[in-house]
Amino acid sequence: MSDGSGASPRGSRWSSAASVRRGADYDVRWAEMEAAGMSVHGEADFLCRFEPLSVLDAGCGTGRVAIELARRGVEVVGVDLDPPMLAEARAKAPDLAWVEADLVDLDLGRTFDVVATPGNVMLFVARGTEGDVVRRLAAHLADEGVLVAGFQLTARYQLAHYDADCDAAGLDLVERYATWECDPWIAGGDYAVSVHRRSGVGPTAGDEPRVGT
Ligand SMILES: C[S@@+](CC[C@H](N)C(=O)[O-])C[C@H]1O[C@@H](n2cnc3c(N)ncnc32)[C@H](O)[C@@H]1O
Repeated sequence: MSDGSGASPRGSRWSSAASVRRGADYDVRWAEMEAAGMSVHGEADFLCRFEPLSVLDAGCGTGRVAIELARRGVEVVGVDLDPPMLAEARAKAPDLAWVEADLVDLDLGRTFDVVATPGNVMLFVARGTEGDVVRRLAAHLADEGVLVAGFQLTARYQLAHYDADCDAAGLDLVERYATWECDPWIAGGDYAVSVHRRSGVGPTAGDEPRVGT
């Protein structure tokens, strides 16, 4: 079932993976980290730097990030195609907007100040659909909105490939960090948080990307 797109979902590497923890099981790791006193809201802190009124949490999973953003007063829509993940999000926050849909042909008919794919979402979309996903995410950006992605850097989907997909979608890199806490990006690192914006838009248009604090 898909209520945000015109076509049937094509699936994802997440839905077909046998080894991942889904639904309430997915949240256990985060609960354990929080109980151990670790920060579990780095993504929400990072996204709030842009002072968004609205955020599309693309590949929202169990709503970990969207629910925290909503708690801080941001209007959020969470989209995911994995029913057990979305069921957990709905159970935790029934009043928020959750959409079961595939990002590859997403069309919510509106835009957002921030479109975010935290939690390695770009590594889990179906192989070969990354460019189409980025294009649909870009279509949901407000004029001065930002696309924010955080994912591990492995052979599965490299940063140069992501930048090329963003470029093809009309987006420029404006910031890049090694962590959600804005540690400086160093080429060859194993994780990147990237911020892209429509080409030629915003205060940093034409500038070199910021790659650290
Ligand atoms: C590792 S989980 C991350 C969940 C959440 N973003 C977080 O940070 O906790 C990856 C999520 O991406 C979703 N996903 C992968 N490909 C997708 C697609 N094509 N459309 C919608 N969701 C997708 C999966 O269903 C899964 O819930």
